[in-house]
Amino acid sequence: MEYPNTISSKLPKVGTTIFTVMSKMANDFNAINLSQGFPDFPVDPKLIELVNHFMQKGYNQYPPMAGIMPLREGIAAKTEQLYGAQYNPESEVLVTAGATQAIFTAIQALIREEDEVIIFTPAYDCYAPAVELAGGKTIYVPLEAPDFKIDWEEVKKLVTRRTRMILINTPHNPTGTTWKQEDLVQLERITSGNDILILSDEVYEHIVFDGEEHQSVAKYPNLAERSIIVGSFGKTFHATGWKVGYALAPKNIMAEIRKVHQYNVFTVNHPVQYALAEYLKDSSNYNEVSAMYEEKRNFFLRAISGSRFTTIPSAGTYFQLLGYDKLSDKNDIEFAEKLTKEHGVASIPISVFYHNQVQNSMLRFCFAKENETLEKAAEILVKL
Ligand SMILES: Cc1ncc(COP(=O)(O)O)c(C=O)c1O
Repeated sequence: MEYPNTISSKLPKVGTTIFTVMSKMANDFNAINLSQGFPDFPVDPKLIELVNHFMQKGYNQYPPMAGIMPLREGIAAKTEQLYGAQYNPESEVLVTAGATQAIFTAIQALIREEDEVIIFTPAYDCYAPAVELAGGKTIYVPLEAPDFKIDWEEVKKLVTRRTRMILINTPHNPTGTTWKQEDLVQLERITSGNDILILSDEVYEHIVFDGEEHQSVAKYPNLAERSIIVGSFGKTFHATGWKVGYALAPKNIMAEIRKVHQYNVFTVNHPVQYALAEYLKDSSNYNEVSAMYEEKRNFFLRAISGSRFTTIPSAGTYFQLLGYDKLSDKNDIEFAEKLTKEHGVASIPISVFYHNQVQNSMLRFCFAKENETLEKAAEILVKL
């Protein structure tokens, strides 16, 4: 069936996301799937039990629009304890359907026609389409391999009077790099004295390695006062399929975000919100996540140590980039396809995270997997 050809696409350049493409290819070719970013190990049975408990208790109808108060209070308490910033649960915290909805909603609420939004690339793929749908213009700052450091002089040059927002992401998907204190100080300098907003995607805040501290914008009052911070319980509690996350922002910014939120989702899963509120009371449930993933990162790096791939250890997230320039001169999409179809390991080519498909001969591997899965994949990778 086909509708007469009168639809002019609002996102003409957007196809199916690479995550869907690679996960399908992994299934079709029975490959080990280290492509899409989701854990293959179970959610803590205590958390499952809590969801079950609150469903049985009857929390199955619409919760309040901004989220249940105990969860908003829990998020605010965690943020204050970790980063020393106070957010009022009444007016400055919003429970969302994952970080994706928080990001989309914030951009729709705050970006107008012709506003410029600075995005660092490679970038997670939901940012640019959200800006485009809002009528805004994306301005890209490329990060260069192998260390993907921010070139602050370049950023300064790209800031204009039309710049409305700078979108940041630390720890960073897909590179596994983290922002350091100096980066936040530079961001403070660039935004001081103007009205630029910051959208800070911090979904991997609890996955930071080697004793480093997560640099949340919440730690920097001059940044926090102009920032929307986005978090994801899916990432922190290995439950990406539940799609529950949150946004934090000063009251007047949050008021605008809530106006859009109430019409694009209104509210999110009631029993899961109660379960998360209870689970958050034990801070070890999030404070111990970094150590667990650091072990997995080390396990994976040890297992592939005899391979011809080049590595810089991931500093955060559950992704590890591997450089394959000693193995092939194919572009990364072709090489990722070959690796999946002929060798049985699926990964993500990182050129798709750049707007102009920069080639770094690098693939992204997700190590949020059982050690057995990582071992099997590594056995294949060392033989290449
Ligand atoms: C950087 C980044 N932001 C946002 C998201 C989306 O998070 P959620 O599943 O909570 O929508 C992801 C998921 O992969 C991500 O990597």
